Amino acid sequence: MKADIKNICCIGAGYVGGPTMSVIADKCPNININVVDKNSERIDLWNSSNLDSLPIYEPGLDKIIARCRGKNLTFSTKIKENISSADMIFISVNTPTKTKGIGAGQASDLKWVEACAREVAMFATGHTIVVEKSTLPVKTAEVIKNILEASQPNSNECEKKFDVLSNPEFLAEGSAIKDLLEPDRVLIGGESNYAIKALSNIYSNWVPKEKILHTNIWSSELSKLTANAFLAQRISSINSISALCEATGADVREVSRAIGLDSRIGTKFLDSGPGFGGSCFKKDILNLVYLSRFFDLDEVADFWESVVKLNNWHQHRLSKLIIKNLFGTISGKKICILGFSFKANTNDTRESAAIKICKDLLEEGAFLSIHDPKVSKEQIQQDLGLEPLNSDINYSERFDFFNFEEKWVFENSISKAVEKSDAVVVLTEWEEYQKINWEEVSKKMRKPSWIFDTRSILNKKEIINNELLLWRIGDGSNEDRS
Ligand code: NAD
Ligand code: UGA
Repeated sequence: MKADIKNICCIGAGYVGGPTMSVIADKCPNININVVDKNSERIDLWNSSNLDSLPIYEPGLDKIIARCRGKNLTFSTKIKENISSADMIFISVNTPTKTKGIGAGQASDLKWVEACAREVAMFATGHTIVVEKSTLPVKTAEVIKNILEASQPNSNECEKKFDVLSNPEFLAEGSAIKDLLEPDRVLIGGESNYAIKALSNIYSNWVPKEKILHTNIWSSELSKLTANAFLAQRISSINSISALCEATGADVREVSRAIGLDSRIGTKFLDSGPGFGGSCFKKDILNLVYLSRFFDLDEVADFWESVVKLNNWHQHRLSKLIIKNLFGTISGKKICILGFSFKANTNDTRESAAIKICKDLLEEGAFLSIHDPKVSKEQIQQDLGLEPLNSDINYSERFDFFNFEEKWVFENSISKAVEKSDAVVVLTEWEEYQKINWEEVSKKMRKPSWIFDTRSILNKKEIINNELLLWRIGDGSNEDRS
């Protein structure tokens, strides 16, 4: 049995695998960390000499990569070789919602996790600790264990031995490096004291011991799903209240502040917005719904499902509000979308509210100009399933927007994006949108010009003072202005 961990292999160089392994490499210079992925384009980007080309935008990540890559941190497609030499293997692959078969639309698709387990079973040597980093439904560790235990060594190999741990990741995109450096807790679920100690030793290089929790493996898996469900539930709760505020004249910012000061409720995750996005909240709640139904707990399933339903309703509610305020029709109108990522400080667009809202607006005939500081034109094209126009449009006085119905254009500059638009919709809370000069913007827009602030980040006074009409999420005074 290998006494301590010298070689780690992480399967999956995504939003979790990349940043997590970078931080471990930085904090544990004596451990070699090899991150592998079957996607060679993604690996090439991780190895790019230009740190602006890393496949993931995450503040602080580039500096760590610059320090560790080529020393004790590598990125490659050499899956077999790196599994063979590893004492510890992290499985950090995607676990999206199943699109067909039993559990379609709710259960997680575990085919990538299972594929990893089979590769580990085949290529691992000696004693290997396998760590579930991906978010997995309760009892997945058992599946992994069964696959690993069924593997037989070749006649010339010594016996293979595996321990399986659950070590879910709680980082949030945009603050991943900070979350990894200063986690609220590290959760390790498992049975083998040896394996638990080996993994705890790695984290204790920078995480205080009292923050490293040990649980049984199922509690660990269920805690991850539950944490995401609770966080998402807070957002649906406050978004439901934002609608009530708009209807009654209250202000959701004031309500959030008032309830957040109750220490039992707390101030975080009470910002009303365009609805939660990201690759995990919806997927993990639906997984919980599937599990609950599987165990005949329909009331429990209905409760959690309502969190996702409210989120869907809320996103369409915003599209409808934009249309209503623009005199009930948006065909032949130009709408400028500021922000396409699902939150600020990430280039990730998975499940972004912007996708649904942009699709709704296009369907109603709008012409969209879309700006985001980190999301590429190609990514937006993929998400909307629609090719963009060239951005060299000349908005002359007699410009005919009716020729541009259901079309969109990607703009690198905010100034060009707002030109001749009837409305600006802020969907992501990027810092640069908070610094917009509304006097300049007002001069460039068509009148009447609407600003829809779905993140409540703009300066209300400045907007109103510049002959712009403002709609803000959860602001009960909106109705007085329309
Ligand atoms: P991702 O899609 O960004 O990355 C997954 C990577 O795994 C991809 O690059 C894919 O090519 C690779 N992969 C899949 N199967 C493979 C195989 N058999 N061999 C080699 N490579 C393979 O996903 P992600 O966002 O990093 O999420 C990974 C897991 O972590 C998910 O279960 C997710 O729920 C969980 N999680 C994500 C976050 C987040 O913020 N994104 C946070 C916490 C937990
Ligand atoms: C979330 C969790 O916060 C992480 O702990 C978890 O590890 C991760 O999911 C995961 O399992 O993938 P993430 O989705 O990256 O992280 O980002 P969040 O900050 O949680 O934001 C999720 C969505 O909720 C975003 O669209 C964000 O704009 C929205 N949100 C968040 C609000 O609308 N209001 C808030 O007050 C907070």
